[in-house]
Amino acid sequence: MHTLRQDGAHHRAWGDTDVLELSCAAPGVLRIRLAAGARDAYMTYPHLPPKVSAMLAPNRPAPLPLTPGTAQPGEWCLTGGGLSVTVTQATGHIRVQELHDDGTPGRTLAELHDWTTTPDPVRRRTAALHAPPAHSYLGFGQKVGPLDKRGMHLTFWNTDCFPHHLDTDPMHLTVPFTTVLTPQGQAHGLFMDESWRSEIDVARRDPTRLTLTSAGQELDLYVLQGPTPQGVLRRYADLTGHAPLPPLWSLGAGQSRWGYKSADEIRSIIAAYREHDLPLDSVYLDIDYMDAYKVWTWDNSRYPDPAALVKEAREAGVHLVPIVDPGVKAEPGYDVYASGTAADHMVRTARGDVLLGEVWPDPAAFPDFTRPPVQDWWADLHKRFTDLGITGQWNDMNEPANFSLRGTPSTLGITGFNVGQQYTEGKTLPYDARHGNRTHLEMHNVYANGMAEAARTGYARHAPAVRPFILTRAGAAGIQRSAAVWTGDNASRWSHLQLSLPMLMGLGLSGIPFSAPDVGGFDLDSSGELLARWYQAALGYAFLRNHASNFTAYQEPWRFGEPYLSVIREALQMRYRLLPHLYTLTHQATTGALPPLRPLALHHPQDPQARTEASSYLLGEGLLVAPVLHANTAQRQVYLPGTDRWTETFNLSAFGDTHDGQRSVTAHAALNTLPIYLRAGHAVPLTDTAPHTTHARWERLSWLAHAGPDGLQGTLYEDDGEGHGPHRLTRLWAERSGTRLVIGRQEEGDLPRTVRTEQLHLTGLDAVTDVQGARSHRFEDGLLRVTLPEGWTEISILTGER
Ligand code: GLC
Repeated sequence: MHTLRQDGAHHRAWGDTDVLELSCAAPGVLRIRLAAGARDAYMTYPHLPPKVSAMLAPNRPAPLPLTPGTAQPGEWCLTGGGLSVTVTQATGHIRVQELHDDGTPGRTLAELHDWTTTPDPVRRRTAALHAPPAHSYLGFGQKVGPLDKRGMHLTFWNTDCFPHHLDTDPMHLTVPFTTVLTPQGQAHGLFMDESWRSEIDVARRDPTRLTLTSAGQELDLYVLQGPTPQGVLRRYADLTGHAPLPPLWSLGAGQSRWGYKSADEIRSIIAAYREHDLPLDSVYLDIDYMDAYKVWTWDNSRYPDPAALVKEAREAGVHLVPIVDPGVKAEPGYDVYASGTAADHMVRTARGDVLLGEVWPDPAAFPDFTRPPVQDWWADLHKRFTDLGITGQWNDMNEPANFSLRGTPSTLGITGFNVGQQYTEGKTLPYDARHGNRTHLEMHNVYANGMAEAARTGYARHAPAVRPFILTRAGAAGIQRSAAVWTGDNASRWSHLQLSLPMLMGLGLSGIPFSAPDVGGFDLDSSGELLARWYQAALGYAFLRNHASNFTAYQEPWRFGEPYLSVIREALQMRYRLLPHLYTLTHQATTGALPPLRPLALHHPQDPQARTEASSYLLGEGLLVAPVLHANTAQRQVYLPGTDRWTETFNLSAFGDTHDGQRSVTAHAALNTLPIYLRAGHAVPLTDTAPHTTHARWERLSWLAHAGPDGLQGTLYEDDGEGHGPHRLTRLWAERSGTRLVIGRQEEGDLPRTVRTEQLHLTGLDAVTDVQGARSHRFEDGLLRVTLPEGWTEISILTGER
C-alpha cells in the first residue's frame, strides 16, 4: 500500500493492485472493505464501486468520521467511534483495537493478514484473521454442531437439505456473523457482508486462523465492539435490522402436516384439538391447498371456499397459515406466470432465456426477488391472501430449491466456468443464472430475503392494520427484518431434538431472534415419548409448530394415546401460562435484539461451563429451562450458571429446592415433568392457560418471584397482541432495607391500565411477619402468596429479625 486518501467518511488506501477502504459505520463498528486484485476486478480502480447490500438494513445512519491517530513509521492509524485501526503499509496487515476513554489503545478486536486473490472461481478472495487459541466463535446462522464453532469449516450457500443430519453443512441460511468470546468473557463481533457464496474456516485448518473466503470481488467486513455479547448483538441488529414484533397468536400452538387433504380435514384437526382440550392458535396449510402447485391459487374441489374456512377457523380461535413457494408453474394461461414473464420478472439463464426448473410445479420459473420491481409485483399478489382474511404465511423452497434443470446445460445456455463439472451446487439454480445483470453466484443467498421483504410489503400495503406472521426456511443476514425462521426438514429422532437447542441458540446469536424447528420432527415417524419431551423442550421456542411429512405417521398430540396426550396437554398449558413472559421477551427481542431463548453463555460469558452449555436454555435472565432430551430417562444433570441462587419451579408450579449457582444439580423429571429454575432477584409474569390467545392485556396475572439479596426485578409488555395499537410496559422492582422488602411497580406507555386479579408467589424469604398494602397474604413453607389489590403500586413485606 502506498497511498491513503480520504473521500468523505471513507479512507481509501491502495497499492499497485489492491484497495482497502476503512470507515466507521456506527459507534463501535468499523467497516473494512478488502479489495485484493482491485486493479483487475474494478474499472473504478483505485476507487471502489458503490455497493448496495441486501443484508444491511436500509436507512442506516451516515458513517462517522475517522481521524488520524498516533502511528508508528510505516503505519497508518485512524480512530473514530471508540475504535482505532492501524494498517502496516508494507504488508497490508490490519489491526482493530478498542480505545480507552483517554484515547489510548486497549484490547485488540481483530488482526487481519494475508488478504489476497486466488485462481479458484468460487473462492476468489480470501483473508485470514488471527484466532487466539482460547477464543470461542458463536453464531454463524443456522449451523449444526456445538455452540462454539471453532474447529468447523462452514460454507454459506443456502441449501435445500432434506432431511438434514447431524453434520449437514450448508443448510438453509447464510449469516456470516460471529460473536467472539475471550476466555475472560469479553465479546466482540465479526460480520462479513457478502451475499456471494462464501466459506469460513473457523480455525480448523490452522488453529490460529479464521479464514474467510468469498466468490465475490472483495471481502466487506465489519468489526463490532462488545464488550458484552448483548452489546455485540445490538450493534449487529442496528446494522442489519431489528425484527418486527410478531402477533401474539404466532406464539400459541400450531399444527401442520404435509398432506392434510382438504378443508374438511383442517376442520377436523381444529375440532380434535378442542375435543382433547388442547390449546391451538394456528393451522398451517401445506402445498396441497393449491391447484396443481400453482402458487396463489386454491384447489377448488378440496378447498371450495377458502374465505369461509379462514373465517370459521378464526371463530374457533385459529389462524390459517398457507405455504408460499417461489417456483411459478410455467403453464400457458396461468395468470401469475403470464404477468411475471410479461414484465420480465423471472430469473434467466446466462444465454438470456427464462430459466425453467422443477420444483413441486414442473416446469417452474423463478421470480427474481432480488430486484425491487419483482418484489413489488409479488407484494401485490399477497392481496389474494389478505382478501381472504389471511394474516400469516410460510415461505418455503426459497433457497431457491430446484430439483432439476429442464433442459441440458447447452440448451439452457449455461456458459462460463465449471460447465460440465459443477455448474450448480446442490438442488438449486446454476451459478451463472441471471438476476438482471448479476449472477446467481452473487444473489443466491439473498434470494429469500427479497421474497420475505415482498411479503411484508404485501401485508403492509393490502392489510395495513394487520401485524403479519411471516415464516421462512431460507434467508441471509438481515432476514430477521422480515421473517421468523423454521429450521427445515429435521427428523423424528432424539438427536434432532438435542440439536435443536444449539441450533436455535446459534440463530439467536446471529441476529435472528425468532426461530424454531418442527416439533416432533418432520421426517420419520415420531413416538409418543419423543413428541411429549419435544413439546416440553419447546416451552421457550419463539413459535411452536408440530409439523410432519407426507410420508410419515400422523403426529398430532392425540395420536399416541396416554400418558403422552396428557403430558403434551400440560406442556402446552404451561406455554400458554407463560405467554405474558414469552411475549415480553418477544417484544424485547424487537427493541434490544436479544432472542427470547438464550444460551447460558449470553448472560454468563465469564463462566467457563456456561459457555459450552446447550442442553438447557435461559428464557430471559431469570428462567432456566432444562428439558429431558433423551429417551427413557427420568433424570438429568442441570448446570446452574453464575453466583446467584436458583430455585426449582418445575412445570412452573410449586417451588422446590433452592441451589447455589455455578454447580450442576440432578433434576428428577419423570415424563410429566419439565425442570425449570428461577434465579434469585427475578420475577416472571404468568397467566392462566386458555384454548387460544386473544390479546396481551392480561386480566389474570401472577408473578412467580424469587427474592434476591438486593431485591427483585420483572418486566411485562402488553398490547392488543396484534395490530399496531398502544402498549404498556410494567416494571416490577424491589428493594430491601433492614427487615423490610418493598415491592413496587412502574408503568409506562399509552395502553390504559388493565383491570385484573394479580398475585405474587414469592420465595427466597426466611420469615414474613406482615405484608402491608396487600389484599391478603399467606406465608407457608417458605412461600409467600400475596393477592394484590387492583391498581397497587407498592407493597411492604416485613421479614422479621434478620
Ligand atoms: C419442504 C418443507 C416442508 C414441507 C414440504 C412440502 O420439504 O421444508 O416443511 O412440508 O416441503 O411442502
